[in-house]
Amino acid sequence: MSWETYTTSSEEETIALGEKLARRLPVKAAVVLSGELGTGKTTLAKGIVKGLGAAEPEEVSSPTFTLIHEYGNPVRVYHVDLYRLDEPRQVATLGLEEIFEREAVVLVEWGEKFPRFMPEERIVVRLEVEGDRRTIRFEGQRLPSRERE
Ligand SMILES: Nc1ncnc2c1ncn2[C@@H]1O[C@H](COP(=O)(O)OP(=O)(O)O)[C@@H](O)[C@H]1O
Ligand SMILES: [Mg+2]
Repeated sequence: MSWETYTTSSEEETIALGEKLARRLPVKAAVVLSGELGTGKTTLAKGIVKGLGAAEPEEVSSPTFTLIHEYGNPVRVYHVDLYRLDEPRQVATLGLEEIFEREAVVLVEWGEKFPRFMPEERIVVRLEVEGDRRTIRFEGQRLPSRERE
């Protein structure tokens, strides 16, 4: 298990951090974005989507109500938000199992609410807030230590 901790002090910095993380992700990866409302999960997702060349940050919006957004053609990033779901049976209808099998990066906000639906091999990003500062910690077994070019 590897751990890395970063701090950012603006939305732009968090997007830039997401871009850097994207360059280190395998083509197929599950990333759980964990943190309270407003900590920057969607903002980090914007950077990851940008870093993967799948869409621009302005095109990335929160999937809170729509539950799943897709970026890239073919789809390279799925962005999921489980915030509004309370029951495992609601999660079961989303077809996440099949999505996690695809050659894509799957970002899941609030994924920690339903650990049984998350793949065992996953990267967890924990975000904490203190004013405009965000502490962003990566933990995971699959995160290579060096950026791919
Ligand atoms: N360092 C920072 N990183 C990310 N967002 C920040 C930062 N500082 C302030 N913000 C603000 O915090 C909010 C984060 O929102 P969002 O990414 O939607 O959070 P979440 O998806 O975790 O609910 C945005 O309004 C953003 O402008
Ligand atoms: Mg969000």
